[in-house]
Amino acid sequence: MNYLRTLLQISAAIVAFLLGTGCGRSESSGEAGENGSSRITVGFSQIGAESAWRTAETESIRFEAKTRGIVLKFSDARGDQMNQIAALRTFIAQDVDAIILAPIVETGWEPILREVKAAGIPVILVDRGVDVSDESLYVTLIASDFVEEGRMAGQWLAERTGGTANIVELTGTTGSAPANDRAAGFREAIAGHPGMQIIHSQTGDFERSMGKQVMEAILKSERAGIDAVYAHNDDMALGAVKAIEEEGLKPGEDILIVSIDSVRDAFVAMTEGKLNATVECNPLLGPQAFDAVEAALRGESLPKWIKVEDRLFEQMDAAEILPTRKY
Ligand code: AHR
Repeated sequence: MNYLRTLLQISAAIVAFLLGTGCGRSESSGEAGENGSSRITVGFSQIGAESAWRTAETESIRFEAKTRGIVLKFSDARGDQMNQIAALRTFIAQDVDAIILAPIVETGWEPILREVKAAGIPVILVDRGVDVSDESLYVTLIASDFVEEGRMAGQWLAERTGGTANIVELTGTTGSAPANDRAAGFREAIAGHPGMQIIHSQTGDFERSMGKQVMEAILKSERAGIDAVYAHNDDMALGAVKAIEEEGLKPGEDILIVSIDSVRDAFVAMTEGKLNATVECNPLLGPQAFDAVEAALRGESLPKWIKVEDRLFEQMDAAEILPTRKY
């Protein structure tokens, strides 16, 4: 009998563990209201922690859930779409009220989003979009216009260089919406300037260490003749800054650098003259994400894209703006 009880206890523990993890790293904060009343439970599938931007987004969503007394089941996919899909299945098994999804890449979501829809769970996309044939598979997308961000960076560089520059492009995660769109917007902006050429374009996966590594390799093969770096995020740009310095060159002077996100470290680099411009991409999406969750649960309809407005910051304004940065 004792043996049977132990076996049952072990089986229950395994099931609870599997439901809790969804294969990625998963955790949950709070379960029921203090008076025992039931609270809204939301599953949040996050991509990972590849950049300062992403950490700020995670903090914003955690903070907002706590402020509103919402139970948040958080799953970190550690950069793997399969882990995100597993997390969504776990959220279905846990019968959450809504799901917030930051999708790593654009494609491959349709089957799992159909499962979520069949379970009657509304999905709010944050930060990145998905490529699906049926828009009813999600309630809304709360995100910046990544094409416009790329355009802003391209226009700034064209103006700054007078329309002549050999450019190294450090791209984001292959297949992700920001990598696709920031590349497209930038190309659109420089298209009218035949003197602007992208001479290298390589992924740094939105990571600082990868940005450095890729830039080091490019500088080894071609030290002269690089006028500018366009990085799809600040972290990769800051990695490139290090690589350029280690080659004995001056980032921000010998090689101009423009990137996207506008994280605090980018402002620090601008005050030091090492980065020239950064386009803002606001990660503080928590308030809007939970407004959308609550509206969806009330049965209200929402626009398919709630656009987050961005702007470009230049080196000359960095010192004044740095103290006001929230991420
Ligand atoms: O999807 C937004 C992008 O993802 C940010 O620009 C980048 O830093 C992040 O990892």
